[in-house]
Amino acid sequence: MNTQHDFDVLVIGSGAAGLSLALQLADHAKVAVISKGPLQEGSTFYAQGGIAAVLDKTDSIESHIRDTIEAGAGLCHEDAVRFTVEHSAEAIRELISMGVPFTRNESGDGYHLTREGGHSQRRVIHAEDATGRALEMTLDQQVRRHPGIHLFEQHIAIDLITRRKIGLTGPERCLGAYVLDRERNRVEVFAARFTALATGGASKVYLYTSNPDTSTGDGIAMAWRAGCRVANMEFNQFHPTCLYHPRAKSFLITEAVRGEGGRLLLPDGTPFMDRFDPRAELAPRDIVARAIDHEMKRLGIDCVYLDISHKSARFIRQHFPNVYQRCMELGYDMTIEPVPVVPAAHYTCGGVITDMQARTDIDGLFAIGETAFTGLHGANRMASNSLLECLVFARVAAATMRDELDDTETPPRLPPWDESRVTDSDEEVVVSHNWEELRHFMWDYVGIVRTDKRLQRAANRVDLLLREIDEYYGNFRVTNDLIELRNLSLVAQLIIRSAQSRKESRGLHYTRDYPEPDPNLAHDTILVPPNFTHAGDGTPCKAQTRP
Ligand code: FAD
Ligand code: SIN
Repeated sequence: MNTQHDFDVLVIGSGAAGLSLALQLADHAKVAVISKGPLQEGSTFYAQGGIAAVLDKTDSIESHIRDTIEAGAGLCHEDAVRFTVEHSAEAIRELISMGVPFTRNESGDGYHLTREGGHSQRRVIHAEDATGRALEMTLDQQVRRHPGIHLFEQHIAIDLITRRKIGLTGPERCLGAYVLDRERNRVEVFAARFTALATGGASKVYLYTSNPDTSTGDGIAMAWRAGCRVANMEFNQFHPTCLYHPRAKSFLITEAVRGEGGRLLLPDGTPFMDRFDPRAELAPRDIVARAIDHEMKRLGIDCVYLDISHKSARFIRQHFPNVYQRCMELGYDMTIEPVPVVPAAHYTCGGVITDMQARTDIDGLFAIGETAFTGLHGANRMASNSLLECLVFARVAAATMRDELDDTETPPRLPPWDESRVTDSDEEVVVSHNWEELRHFMWDYVGIVRTDKRLQRAANRVDLLLREIDEYYGNFRVTNDLIELRNLSLVAQLIIRSAQSRKESRGLHYTRDYPEPDPNLAHDTILVPPNFTHAGDGTPCKAQTRP
């Protein structure tokens, strides 16, 4: 049966970016939100530290901009930084009005602001140490209540539908997406006047990550296949402090622990960060993660330690109740002892190139949140700027769509998904094996410290893997795992190609063969897909073309 769902706007992804966008549009348009798992599952739910915003009288927009640009190691786009920071306070006010339970300060007359790496001020508003959960639950309640929003959980987008893809002539435009309903196990057509990718990052490409299983780079891969350019995929952020414990599946220890005085120690109790940066534990993440990696390799140790036990037990339990509780469950009492930590892949700074309205290279297609590249983060994202970017760009994307809605045609009847040449797979093991292999070699060869040789090894392997996966994809019915593996392998290839092209070390990209930054290379790495056609009609594409 050919099911076509028709909407004004199709939002792919239900994190901070997707749900904020849906809420901004719902009074004006018929909106679908699809989510490949339960609505709340995604990085947003696990965010801990908070949201950076200029909220205190002693802080200033210029200071937040300066810190962001400094962390970004020469690659931030100043217009994107300024735009985001200037809209930070109003984005937070809106969340407060929705009821996000941000932590109040001691006197109760305002909100507590914490501090994280790279910030010269206390400017991170938070809900205890589980900001993402508070935010996502609030957004979830709001979208479920709104009659204009139609929710499709357990629906995974496979590929975008564009005019060219279905053989239509004229200017290229996105018309919707093919989507696998995971429960009914059938592929459906979602047609929409506008489609937004809000699918999060791609940190699952690495063996060790702070991210949930959803972060498989689907939006980046779908956009690339459809003909959008991507940028700065070599800048993969590793969070310095994930709990090191065999049973703690990627549990993050928030940077706010260091912001509130936590020290990093070697196994013998010696602090070491002062040797690497005058800002010590509060240096930007790239520096801290690399320092830990360096010490672990130098001493042959499995982890370092994070110690905040010099603070009172009351302070620790009050500021970090969730981290405290999780550590206790695993046998560590952070009020009296240091906890073992290691770096893990955390954030994808690169993504689908967008302009300042969140428009991609293809008309009708937007990208917001971690999947997008707006130019905000440069070569290294500053802590807590990510949720802020989700909120600010969701608002501007919504405003753009609202303005253009009346002048935009509804898509025609779209061709159904073609399954005539595929059968059910009898070799699921191929998918799980390739998935393991990919994440291992990405960790070993394309991790915190890179070399030309390691990158070449990874390039050879990913080419092979992609050929095998393409063949498999062409022969067998799609499953969730296959869709994700196909996307992750493609994203891995984009990461490796970008890393190979940057012959210097800058921000999150560090290579032993070129250990210093090169001032001549202070520009973005832009990858152009073979089917990129400048909006399809010869006019310059909408997304930014800055060098
Ligand atoms: P996500 O929240 O990841 O949501 C992506 C959504 O897309 C999910 O619903 C997923 O199911 C869906 N999806 C993906 N692919 C498909 C598909 N093919 N079809 C359908 N649906 C799909 N940032 C901060 O600013 N402050 C913090 O304190 C902070 N702490 C963090 C702590 C942790 C442990 C982690 C992992 C990240 C943290 N970050 C933090 C980063 C931040 O949480 C993320 O960058 C941000 O939440 C991304 O939001 P998003 O909406 O873009 O994506
Ligand atoms: C954290 O709480 O350490 C994560 C903050 C972030 O990734 O921005």
